[in-house]
Amino acid sequence: MTTALITGATAGIGAAFARRLASEGHNLVLVARDTARLREQATELHDRHGVEAEVLTADLSSEEGISAVEKRLSDPREPVDLLVNNAGFGNKGRFLEVSMEDELTMLKVHCEAVLRLTAAAARSMRERRRGAVVNVASVAAFVPRGTYGASKSWVVQFTQGAARDLAGSGVRLMALCPGFVRTEFHQRAGMGTENIPGWMWLDADRLVSAALTDLARGKAVSIPDPRYKALMGLVKLAPRGVLGGISSKTGRKYGPQ
Ligand SMILES: NC(=O)c1ccc[n+]([C@@H]2O[C@H](COP(=O)([O-])OP(=O)(O)OC[C@H]3O[C@@H](n4cnc5c(N)ncnc54)[C@H](OP(=O)(O)O)[C@@H]3O)[C@@H](O)[C@H]2O)c1
Repeated sequence: MTTALITGATAGIGAAFARRLASEGHNLVLVARDTARLREQATELHDRHGVEAEVLTADLSSEEGISAVEKRLSDPREPVDLLVNNAGFGNKGRFLEVSMEDELTMLKVHCEAVLRLTAAAARSMRERRRGAVVNVASVAAFVPRGTYGASKSWVVQFTQGAARDLAGSGVRLMALCPGFVRTEFHQRAGMGTENIPGWMWLDADRLVSAALTDLARGKAVSIPDPRYKALMGLVKLAPRGVLGGISSKTGRKYGPQ
C-alpha cells in the first residue's frame, strides 16, 4: 500500500485529491491548519475507504509548519510515495493594495514551502528510486495576473527544471495548472466571481482525475482540461498588452479591504 501526503487537504482541490486517492486505496497524510476539520476528514475517509488517514496540523507560512512536514516526508520508517503540494490562497487586492507582509506570506506558502517539501520528498524518493510530486500551480502562471500569477510561474518553472534534473532517478514531478475551479478559494480571497463566464469553471473531482492521468503519462506540466488547453494555445499568439488587460481583470473584483 502506498502513502500520499497532501497539503491543503481539507477543502477544494486538495480534498478532491484526498477523496480520489483514498478511493484507490492509498493511505494519506492530510496537512492543513484547521485540526478539527482535518480530523473529521480523516475519520470519514478511513470509515468510507478503510485507509489510514494521518492528520498533520501545519501552517505552511511558518518555519515550524514547513519543518514539521519536511520531517514527516523524510521519515524512512513511513515513506511517502506521492506528495501533492496544493495549499495556497489569493490575497485580497491588487499590487500595492496588499501589505508586504501578506505578499511575503504568499511567497512562503507558494514558493518556499513548495521548494522545501519537494526537496525533502524527492530526496527520500530518489533513495528508493520511486515516487512522484504534484505541485499545484495555475494557468495564471502563463498570463499577467498580479503577484499570485508570478508566484505560480515560479512553481511551473521550478517543477519543470527539477523534473529535468531528476530524470531517470525514478522520481517524477508535475506542475498542475488548473483554470477557475469551484472551491473556497475565491470566497477566502474576497474575490467577486460574477465576471467569470460559466464555461470557465472546472469541477475539482474531474480536474484531479485528469491530473492523475497526466501524471501517469509522465507529463511535467498538466493543463487538465481541453477548454484551457485551447485558451493557453491562444495566449501564446495574443499580443501581451491585450492579454494582460483581460487576464489581470477577470475574476479579480475585490470586496472592501
Ligand atoms: N480554485 C481555483 O480557481 C484555483 C485555480 C488555479 C489554482 N488553484 C490553486 O489550487 C490550490 C488549492 O486551492 P483551492 O482552490 O482548493 O483553495 P481552497 O478551497 O481555499 O483550499 C485551500 C486549502 O489550503 C489550506 N491552506 C491555506 N493556507 C494554508 C497554510 N498557510 N498552511 C497550510 N494549509 C493552508 C486550507 O486549509 P486551512 O485553512 O485549514 O489551512 C485548505 O485546505 C492553491 O494552490 C490554489 O492557488 C486554485
